Amino acid sequence: MPRCKRKNRKSCRSDRLAPRLHSPRAKPRGVGANVSRIPLEAVFRNRSIRTEICVRSPDRTARHVAIIMDGNGRWAKRKHLPRAMGHRKGVEAVRELVRSLKDTSIECLTLYAFSSENWKRPEDEVDDLMNLMRKFIKSDLPEFIANDIKLHILGNWQGLAPDIVEMLEDALQKTSKGSRTLAVALNYGSQAEITQAARKAAEAGEVTEEAIERHLYSAPLPPLDLLIRTSGEVRLSNFLLWQAAYAEMLFIDVLWPDFTPDHLKRALADFAERERRFGGR
Ligand code: FPP
Repeated sequence: MPRCKRKNRKSCRSDRLAPRLHSPRAKPRGVGANVSRIPLEAVFRNRSIRTEICVRSPDRTARHVAIIMDGNGRWAKRKHLPRAMGHRKGVEAVRELVRSLKDTSIECLTLYAFSSENWKRPEDEVDDLMNLMRKFIKSDLPEFIANDIKLHILGNWQGLAPDIVEMLEDALQKTSKGSRTLAVALNYGSQAEITQAARKAAEAGEVTEEAIERHLYSAPLPPLDLLIRTSGEVRLSNFLLWQAAYAEMLFIDVLWPDFTPDHLKRALADFAERERRFGGR
């Protein structure tokens, strides 16, 4: 088993966590102990490659979590249902997750709902996704307001259908006083985001990291702490490429419609055990 390379540490992941992670009978202790038991090795991929990371203080909390919600289509296929059903169940998973935010440390949850590349999907699927968006805003806006959720949109959302733009403008205005942010990436592509931010920075005569950051869609959001992708795929798909520079990553073998608030709590517990060095040592 690999040894922790850092000096003066009482314990490290290689010594303390690896045995329980890989033993199906081992019981969780410490940070994640009060989270209901799903065998970690069944849910989180690539645990073993992180066995050299030392454990940090257990009070570490993630303020900003982003999720690539992947696997709606596969979920539907496995159940012999139309793809649209997978997306519909995906919206239900979103709803439950947003409801659970008040029980977490998360100040901002960013969801990748529609990428600028998703226009390449068949027209009826794009229509389904847009209709789900309309229904979601209409049905859930009162709950956002009641639960102090502030909506933020990333992406070229003004390029969506005029009625959706109007609904979003209304939702942004009505939730503007909320204390916890739900950021939704719509018609979003990270390379385009960085390009337009760099262009604006250049036009203003200051091409620095700080100036570019000020022009990103994410400018008002806290720094990204944790990026999760569901469905077992391990790639970023043009999502938050700048913001993820020092984010922790978690790739989970759960299809998005099956993702629950419990998975999120386990992800937060996993995050709390990581040591982030931001390039230092
Ligand atoms: C990827 O699954 C998912 C999407 C492209 C859309 C995500 C959208 C939702 C969860 C619903 C809309 C969200 C809101 C906030 C209203 P996929 O279809 O690519 O799955 P597959 O890889 O299994 O085919």
